[in-house]
Amino acid sequence: MLGRFVTVDGGEGAGKTTQIAFMRAYLERRGCRVMATREPGGTPLGEEIRALLLGHRHGGMTLTAETLLMFAARAEHVEQVIRPALAAGCWVLCDRFTDATYAYQGGGRGLSLERIAVLEEWVQGTLRPDLTLLLDLPVPTGLTRAGKRGPADRFEREEVEFFERARAVYLKRASHDPGRCRIVDASRPIEIVRTEVETVLAEWLERD
Ligand code: TMP
Repeated sequence: MLGRFVTVDGGEGAGKTTQIAFMRAYLERRGCRVMATREPGGTPLGEEIRALLLGHRHGGMTLTAETLLMFAARAEHVEQVIRPALAAGCWVLCDRFTDATYAYQGGGRGLSLERIAVLEEWVQGTLRPDLTLLLDLPVPTGLTRAGKRGPADRFEREEVEFFERARAVYLKRASHDPGRCRIVDASRPIEIVRTEVETVLAEWLERD
């Protein structure tokens, strides 16, 4: 069976982690080999970079450094984890990927999307997700949910407008690339979202 590269992205509190756990169980029940991973992170170096990016020790880091750290973690992840897993026939379920860089560093912080595209090309070559589920919900709803999880990380401390700009970029990218992206209304109850996500996966399983 062919490996598939599936990314799950969206704003804070969208329920990505919960849905990825359901997706993993669903695909395994259907006989697929599955590897679930996340960004930034997914490798030992990537997880250390994640701690630098999300922690508060380097609160004043420049946008260039932040973006390059995202892609440094991604370079490790792509070469050491994602490509080998796909080559071995696994479904790779990745909690955030490069759409998050376009949304957060591009939309949120104002980095030019062309710069991000250069790094995407350099680090990923032709690798792009086969399928991206954009778990979309109103920013205030997501921030309230995320706030219940514990202390805010360096991104969660941003103002609402930052997340509104990020959401706008996510939605624009998804609507311009309907072959890859599915927008899922994540403001609904978890079980309803789960059913929709499993329906999308079922369509993809039929393509194999
Ligand atoms: P999360 O995956 O646990 O939601 O947290 C990761 C945070 O990192 C989240 O606030 C989004 C942010 N992020 C970026 O700003 N750019 C990226 O490229 C990625 C992968 C994540």
